[in-house]
Amino acid sequence: MRTLSHSKAKKFYDRFGARQDRSTLYEDLPIRLLIENSEFEDANSVLEFGCGTGRLAERLLAEHLTSETAYTALDISDTMIGLTRGRLAQWNSRVEVRQTAGQMTLDADDSSYDRFVSTYVFDLLSIGDIVKLLDEAHRVLQPGGLICLVSLTAGHGFGAKLATGMWRLAYWISPAVMGGCRPIRLWRYLFADHWEAKFRRVVCPGGLCSEILIARCVKENEPARADLTFDFQSAVRR
Ligand SMILES: C[S@@+](CC[C@H](N)C(=O)[O-])C[C@H]1O[C@@H](n2cnc3c(N)ncnc32)[C@H](O)[C@@H]1O
Repeated sequence: MRTLSHSKAKKFYDRFGARQDRSTLYEDLPIRLLIENSEFEDANSVLEFGCGTGRLAERLLAEHLTSETAYTALDISDTMIGLTRGRLAQWNSRVEVRQTAGQMTLDADDSSYDRFVSTYVFDLLSIGDIVKLLDEAHRVLQPGGLICLVSLTAGHGFGAKLATGMWRLAYWISPAVMGGCRPIRLWRYLFADHWEAKFRRVVCPGGLCSEILIARCVKENEPARADLTFDFQSAVRR
């Protein structure tokens, strides 16, 4: 399936700007579940990819992270970077908001973060970019660090299937109309020996389904922690 090029995605989000925050009907519940299951109170350094208006960063810094936690927010869009900088200004001493050129390579040392967060961004990336970014997230996370993701996904049940079908049709006509986002099954790309699943849930508020995926980064020679093992694949079949 064709996806928006990085330059087209940038153009769209430069124009879309603060309207991104109107998607509360379908985003609020998935984001709440992400926050509840990501152990943010224990985080030392968070990297957010595709921070949008900075809404999630502001909420995490104000309510969930300690006063020591460092936060790096990346985005391709000038407008989004401007909005995020304004929103996070009061935490300037430990926040870095950085504009990227859209590349999947992260300008960060190996094992330098303990949370990698991204909401509603993987669903607009090409499959090749998804795989590259997951590899990079694994590289920059410390062993035991968490990857914390939310993306649009396909739904079960009549209403959710109808909403997914309509979204796919609109995307097929023009990916740009849907902000480049389409329903994907993110767990398929994550389930490798790099990750130990911690939490997966699909929820469909307002008929639009989101997948919340949280997994622990496992690096070579580190034994898997059986207490956290959760089988994404059988959960999907249920
Ligand atoms: C659908 S919005 C989601 C924004 C925010 N994470 C949220 O949940 O509200 C997608 C965001 O990803 C950014 N983005 C798209 N492609 C990107 C890329 N290749 N690199 C970095 N950011 C990107 C867009 O500028 C936009 O801010």
